[in-house]
Amino acid sequence: MTDEISREALHDILRGVAALTGDALVADLARLIGKGVRADISIAFNPKQIASKRWLVEMLAEVLPKPDGPVWVLGAWHGVLGAMLLADERLAITQLVSLDIDPDCAPIAEILNHRHVASGRFRAVTADMMGLDFERAEGGRPGLVINTSCEHLDDVPGWVAGLPAGLPLLLQSNDYVREPDHRSCVPSLDAFKAQAGLSELWFAGALPTKNYTRFMLIGRR
Ligand SMILES: C[S@@+](CC[C@H](N)C(=O)[O-])C[C@H]1O[C@@H](n2cnc3c(N)ncnc32)[C@H](O)[C@@H]1O
Repeated sequence: MTDEISREALHDILRGVAALTGDALVADLARLIGKGVRADISIAFNPKQIASKRWLVEMLAEVLPKPDGPVWVLGAWHGVLGAMLLADERLAITQLVSLDIDPDCAPIAEILNHRHVASGRFRAVTADMMGLDFERAEGGRPGLVINTSCEHLDDVPGWVAGLPAGLPLLLQSNDYVREPDHRSCVPSLDAFKAQAGLSELWFAGALPTKNYTRFMLIGRR
């Protein structure tokens, strides 16, 4: 058997793909791989994860392209969604906060989004989303709060209840109950609507994949 591909080789390939496509996000990923990153970046960039984030960006561009204030991404992992949101010219996002409880995530998110850190559009925060006070948030009240990690929370209704009334929200969850870290999966889109209890609903949809279905809601707390 021949040797497995090395990090250096993967770095070179991604730099080549960036040169071929002119895609700045691929160049940012190549840079991140070159610096060394933990292995689950491959999950964050797998086709299912990217498809669900592209779906999110497409629907946001239709439903709420100009959020009135900073955008917070909660349970943001390595900051891939933030990078995709800031790359999309249809969206007017002046400030994006990428928050995760795992302290390993912020440094990775900042490297991936280094251009936006430099321009002041991106910052990464380590915190528990359950304890946030958006009325006193640095940078002012958010124009949109995104949580694509609802399935990872113990108490989704309790988290939503603690948010300011009227706050624009984009939520994703799924029915992937076999994953041990998933604590609040929902069996259907209607179950997700009931779990979230939004006062206004602007979009609700389901995206089937091979092993599970992902659900998304956009509306107001
Ligand atoms: C596997 S990742 C992302 C999964 C999500 N479905 C997605 O595609 O974006 C889930 C992330 O949520 C984070 N997380 C879980 N509970 C959290 C909490 N209470 N506050 C902030 N981040 C949290 C984890 O650390 C992890 O990085």
